[in-house]
Amino acid sequence: MNIDGKAWRTIWLEPDGRAVGVIDQTLLPHQFTTRTLRSCAEAAEAIRTMVVRGAPLIGVTGAYGLMLALQADPSDGALAAAFEQLNATRPTAINLRWALERVRAKVQQLPPAERAEAARLEAAAIADEDVAMGEAIGEHGLAIFRQLAAARPGARLNVLTHCNAGWLATVDWGTALAPIYKAHRAGLNIHVWVDETRPRNQGASLTAYELGQEGVPHTVIVDNAGGHLMQHGQVDAVIVGTDRTTRRGDVCNKIGTYLKALAAHDNGVPFYVALPASTIDWTIGDGVAEIPIEARSAEEVTHIQGRAPDGAIITVQLTPTGSAGFNPAFDVTPARLVTALITERGVAAATEAGLGQLYAG
Ligand code: MRU
Repeated sequence: MNIDGKAWRTIWLEPDGRAVGVIDQTLLPHQFTTRTLRSCAEAAEAIRTMVVRGAPLIGVTGAYGLMLALQADPSDGALAAAFEQLNATRPTAINLRWALERVRAKVQQLPPAERAEAARLEAAAIADEDVAMGEAIGEHGLAIFRQLAAARPGARLNVLTHCNAGWLATVDWGTALAPIYKAHRAGLNIHVWVDETRPRNQGASLTAYELGQEGVPHTVIVDNAGGHLMQHGQVDAVIVGTDRTTRRGDVCNKIGTYLKALAAHDNGVPFYVALPASTIDWTIGDGVAEIPIEARSAEEVTHIQGRAPDGAIITVQLTPTGSAGFNPAFDVTPARLVTALITERGVAAATEAGLGQLYAG
């Protein structure tokens, strides 16, 4: 997608083949800066500190992290240590473990001298597949948006999204935002309500930035406004991404997603979840009971980052000194609240049968 009219991916191999470039998402929307990752440790740190974030992008960064580790030391021991180091960075998004397992499966039977190159090829394949899956999700979601728009000819289609499930969360296109980009490019009169998404404000900073760069009409709202807007007919559909979806269709996503699903259900607003196959955890049925929820630093709750009048990016304290904070980063929306899952293979009911049909064979 475009930044100031230039097409970017969120992650790329540097020309020397021994380093990986990424967009630093901790400074957006105020500063556009890229970073170079030269070791597995740097890749792990970039995931942990959310220089890169979003389930699919975490997976691709992990895959390239294994490549960097194997370039330094292709032994079995180094492979195992790098796998553990990267896998421990963020526990909720299943794409990370999925990508690490995929690269490990490709390289572990090879002689050590061939492993780094095989890891490079596999990481690049995962990245390219991610782009293709995002675009396909966009097409399937566009068909839904066309139907919703056709039901109210001439009216603006108001879509609400939570967190950032756009191209910055993937390699390109995104998941939940891909249908929005497709709809905007197809000429649909679409407008996006963007939840700010406390505590890290991925909506206010990243989703709003992306939509602005693509010229998509949007309005940032506080997280608590969505229910009110739904009650007053201001939301035609909700669409979000996911960090892990169980085989039964329970959806784990950024904290606050569950409350949006409840409000949508109560108001008869369709609630869609967009995801690639790499986000499905076929080993888990009950998302509430079984998905590990990352607890991040309380400081993300007690403090907030923004741009000062002099342009400097600063962090300020919100809460009284001494007040405790608690920061679960994700929640689980039960499948019964999900209208449909939009995948790269098509649209499925959020049920074991629905997913099973799409992914059989
Ligand atoms: O903590 P983050 O910013 O990595 O969380 C991201 C989300 O919750 C996204 O909605 C999810 O990864 C889907 S991204 C296509």
